[in-house]
Amino acid sequence: MATQLPKTGTPREALLAEMRQRKSQDADWKGGRTFSLVYPAGEDVDRMLADANELYLYENALNPFRFPSLRQMEVEVVEMTAGLLNAPPEAGGCMTSGGTESILLAVKTARDRAAAERGVTRPQLLAPVSAHPAFAKAAAYLGLEHVQIPLGADTRADVDAAARLVTDQTALIVGSAPNYPFGGVDPIAELAALASERGISFHTDACLGGFLLPFLERLGEPVPPFDFRVPGVTTLSADVHKYGYATKGASVILHRQADHLKKYQLFVYDRWPGGLYGSFAMAGARPAAPIAAAWAILRHLGEEGYLAKTRQLLGAVRRYREGIEAIGDLHVLGQPVMSVFAFTSDRHDPFAIGDAMDQRGWCLDRQKGPDALHLMLSPRHAEVVEDFLADLRWAVANPAASRTSEARYS
Ligand SMILES: Cc1ncc(COP(=O)(O)O)c(C=O)c1O
Repeated sequence: MATQLPKTGTPREALLAEMRQRKSQDADWKGGRTFSLVYPAGEDVDRMLADANELYLYENALNPFRFPSLRQMEVEVVEMTAGLLNAPPEAGGCMTSGGTESILLAVKTARDRAAAERGVTRPQLLAPVSAHPAFAKAAAYLGLEHVQIPLGADTRADVDAAARLVTDQTALIVGSAPNYPFGGVDPIAELAALASERGISFHTDACLGGFLLPFLERLGEPVPPFDFRVPGVTTLSADVHKYGYATKGASVILHRQADHLKKYQLFVYDRWPGGLYGSFAMAGARPAAPIAAAWAILRHLGEEGYLAKTRQLLGAVRRYREGIEAIGDLHVLGQPVMSVFAFTSDRHDPFAIGDAMDQRGWCLDRQKGPDALHLMLSPRHAEVVEDFLADLRWAVANPAASRTSEARYS
């Protein structure tokens, strides 16, 4: 390790200049040239987020009793999310640092519930092949066997195959709304029914769709059932830091029954000299700023603001999809329901097209099975659609001579 703590400090201005310089090498998300990791939604959103973050930069959300304002904001974010996702009055939840933590907590809840209520000792987690790696991670961390549900021709989980994979040790079945690779919503109602008939927990991973599908539905778009209106859904994750447009570190996990939160998610400990320690999250100390920013952006945009952003995004999605399909040998995979989708080429290696797009300054994710390029659109992308399509037409006509990239996630 070459870097040492410097003996003397560096003035603030010099450091800021150095950081700006280093940052100039980073992905140009503000220009709409990247398609995941950041969800740019406009300057009004950016300003609100910056102010809310600054106001709560130092507080710690570990102990809600010291910072009642934070506690109140967290409760209100959870309640607003529960309302959007049609959770029943007896539901409960909390905020976490992101989709992965919400998923880890859902898997832990299901594991402990299966042990307590069904005597499951060798728990299995059943998740579609297209489910986010957070489920594999949760299984590895928490000692569950990860069993993959194959996909049907439409890239959604195959329900008959799932039925054959269920055992008396299945602790959790998962469906995505939508999944990351293809943007399709799994047959949540059918999968959740498989689970509930057997007393098994079911998790809807709405990390991506939780703050977009409800608004698409209000705009009259066809949205398959995915939320708590589906009877067997026991937990659901929805990320405010994705299509809720909050800054990073903000997701919500919801339980259909609030008592599961205390019974299976809460960790309490007092066998040490430091006093009673209780925590719902994986983390101990929790930054306050993501909670404040999530609360602020939900209140700032309100339903009307989200509907306006969704309308803008929907217009962009149509133009991207039509423009891509119009190029001729490109086609979109599966049945994407919102703003996340993959496309491939019948004639060329799609990665070679991606490499050509790299040369024009675009940053497209690559995926395999089948090889494809991945797009995750945000409102900002509405402003660069013509540039993107012009460069894509050029890239299809001039693919890189040989591919230099591999499948990669973000
Ligand atoms: C469908 C889905 N679930 C879960 C996650 C994990 O979320 P995070 O990266 O916030 O941990 C992602 C991230 O992209 C996702 O697309």
